[in-house]
Amino acid sequence: MRFNVYGLIHKTIRGQFGELVVRAGKTVWTDPASVKAMYEGVYLLEFVLQGHAHREDTVLHPVLKAEKYLRMGDLEIEHITSDKQLNEVVASITAINTDCAAGLKDGLVARGFEFYLQLAQYMATYFLHMNHEETMVLPFLQSKKTDVELLELHKAMQASLTAEDVLCTISVMFPYMSSGEAAMIVKLLSNIYPSQFPDMAHEIKRVLGEGDTTLIFKLATVEFPRVKELEGAYVATTGMFSP
Ligand SMILES: [Fe+2]
Repeated sequence: MRFNVYGLIHKTIRGQFGELVVRAGKTVWTDPASVKAMYEGVYLLEFVLQGHAHREDTVLHPVLKAEKYLRMGDLEIEHITSDKQLNEVVASITAINTDCAAGLKDGLVARGFEFYLQLAQYMATYFLHMNHEETMVLPFLQSKKTDVELLELHKAMQASLTAEDVLCTISVMFPYMSSGEAAMIVKLLSNIYPSQFPDMAHEIKRVLGEGDTTLIFKLATVEFPRVKELEGAYVATTGMFSP
């Protein structure tokens, strides 16, 4: 098992895209509440994707360039393409939401279906991008860096996250991770954000419900032996290893 810098975030993104495409297929495009829920979901996706791309552009890509990753040009083009597609998707749902809220319902069903196809196309492109990162970039990084060095890189990527950012992403990330991973994240958050942790714990309970939260918080008290080989608490609390 090697450290995987893409572990949890890619699970989150896949889960978020999947649910949004399902929701887009079920949205009643003439119903303001249904359209607004879609609009808010897309804004949350934008928040996650922009933050993730920024962290890759500023921390990961300079390392890949320095190590002379051969497909650097492709990787950068993929980020530019994704940014353009994201802007188009956001623009479409924003316009539909505005018109629906204003009662301008003519043509909304057709525009809604077009939006559904546009979102599905974006998802297809983005999944290929993650596949590139997981099957080519990650093995390249793992061949150049030790797990401890990768961990430092991952920490540098997370350094710009504020407690508020974390609070916003809880509802997005927690539903898509295993209970073991969730427990490790809980441990990490309680160490990094001691004063904001009660709010975060409250949000986790809201998202996962009482039963799962109790299990996860119990798991968070368990020691993870594998972690001690590396860097103790931090890896224990992220648990993002890949075979
Ligand atoms: Fe990326």
